Amino acid sequence: MAAPRIVVTRRIPEPALELLREGSELWVSGEDRPLETAELHAAVAGADAVVTLLHDRVDDAFLDAAGPQLRSVSNVAVGYDNIDVPAASARGVLVTNTPGVLTEATADIALGLILAATRRLGEGERLIRSGAPWSWHMFFMLGSGLQGKTLGIVGLGGIGRAVARRARAFGMEIAYFARNRAPEEVEAELSARPLGFEELLAEADVLSLHCPLSEETRHLIDAGALRAMKPSAYLVNTARGPIVDEAALVEALRSGEIAGAGLDVFEREPEVEPGLIELENAVLVPHLGSATEETRTAMAELAARNALAIAAGEPALTPVNAGQLKET
Ligand code: GLV
Repeated sequence: MAAPRIVVTRRIPEPALELLREGSELWVSGEDRPLETAELHAAVAGADAVVTLLHDRVDDAFLDAAGPQLRSVSNVAVGYDNIDVPAASARGVLVTNTPGVLTEATADIALGLILAATRRLGEGERLIRSGAPWSWHMFFMLGSGLQGKTLGIVGLGGIGRAVARRARAFGMEIAYFARNRAPEEVEAELSARPLGFEELLAEADVLSLHCPLSEETRHLIDAGALRAMKPSAYLVNTARGPIVDEAALVEALRSGEIAGAGLDVFEREPEVEPGLIELENAVLVPHLGSATEETRTAMAELAARNALAIAAGEPALTPVNAGQLKET
């Protein structure tokens, strides 16, 4: 049997490329930037498997460009809102993602943002670097403590739970809103209280988002939701930018409707709403959730193993749409 043709749309860590080189006829983009749509479509033509990054749009046009021999799309990310999964399923194309391997790294960034926002770390750093005079005094740059406060988690999957575990170590109480109630043992381990969405907004001292982006969750945090939060509360988003209405968030931060925000993701990434940049009470980092050497390597290796397994006719390790595929 001829080696499968596997296309990787942007440079990924070498151990994953080595795996792919051994088991396929590999093409990797030489560009260290997202491919333009026309380049992407030209690159995937004739591929049996494509390893995609979260900025690659996989839609009908992509699938048409790839051709009917395409068997799989392996996203190097846990989120797969860049992929039209029903369109892939309709063509018998298996989609895979990288759950699990980035859980701890992403939870670390969420905690980092919680601390940075509530303790004004970005603001303090900017102050020192500005050269402005300062001195310790009783009322200088006071933030908000976490002990005894309520962390409201939207989406209690792997990452939400890992954030809750960390927050417990900081003395926080856990409440959550999720589409499906978490198993009893998870609620018990985290002392996590399930709440309705409105109740969670009203009770959370810090609201941290850990749900996927879907039509249901797009702008879940809009002007109304921000208004329902406490004026002393903080919003943290390490999930996907469009879950938050960024223009409404700027207004809420500006007017003191909420106290602050920590954002790792943006609505029109890599563009950042200009209003956010002017605000001292917004901590902004450039989508670093999974950005550790170890995690990025593990993500890329998992995507590579998925692509190779499917090409060899074996079950995928972490499929998204198994069982939904149309036979082609
Ligand atoms: C990163 O944002 C991911 O979804 O893995």
